[in-house]
Amino acid sequence: MASEEQLRAMVDQDKSLLRIIDFENFRSAPQIDAQARAALLRPNPKLDASLRTSAAHGLPPISVLPLAGQYLSVLTRVMGAKNVLEVGTLGGYSSICFAQAGARVTSVEIDAKHRDVAMQNVEGLDVEVLLGSSSDVLPKLVEEGRKFDIVFVDADMIGLDEQFDLAVKLTRPNGCIVLEDVVASMFKEGEVGGHSEENILTRIGKDERVDATLVPIVTCHPMVPTPVFNGFIFATVKADS
Ligand SMILES: C[S@@+](CC[C@H](N)C(=O)[O-])C[C@H]1O[C@@H](n2cnc3c(N)ncnc32)[C@H](O)[C@@H]1O
Repeated sequence: MASEEQLRAMVDQDKSLLRIIDFENFRSAPQIDAQARAALLRPNPKLDASLRTSAAHGLPPISVLPLAGQYLSVLTRVMGAKNVLEVGTLGGYSSICFAQAGARVTSVEIDAKHRDVAMQNVEGLDVEVLLGSSSDVLPKLVEEGRKFDIVFVDADMIGLDEQFDLAVKLTRPNGCIVLEDVVASMFKEGEVGGHSEENILTRIGKDERVDATLVPIVTCHPMVPTPVFNGFIFATVKADS
């Protein structure tokens, strides 16, 4: 039976399934996002204070959203991660998520003002912020033989391939890499619906050092009037790579 017929048969059995496969559901994303935030997030004065301090210093409101931060905390705890490399510190919001979950954080930030604000925000936590561009700092960490349980790449959408390559070199076997904004970068670079066979997904797919998946997400950002289709690469470095 063709899959469309199978679906029709399933819907005949249970009409409420139609409510799940309605494209209009996309419009409910902000409501569900608000429900999830209200239901799942616990009060966190340090994270709240970091947002206030960052805003007071004029940093852009582009830290990971609270539910994504909670994802990073959960990931850290599930893995028992002891050291995390982060590329893109901003005001230290995601650094706090990793550090409060028990990891020592090494974060790389190109902007001195962002670094300074982050240092205030992460006070009392095990976070070091290295000032410099990822393309300068990460190769040095590779040379030093540093390895991390988690590498979180959240800098900018330019040069994701290079950042991913360095992230692989810096991740311990069976550790993981979170590469943010991959779907957004594909839209930005015209890699969706175009004629090119190559895109960041195919390039990562050919990388024999990792097993990777795409985690598609719908982001509801207060700065953007509509929900945004985005997604991140979640990869693990093979033990024999
Ligand atoms: C999206 S923000 C990071 C948000 C942060 N991870 C959080 O959730 O709180 C991106 C940050 O990366 C920094 N950045 C951009 N390009 C960079 C590069 N090549 N190397 C290091 N940092 C970079 C920007 O200055 C900015 O502070």
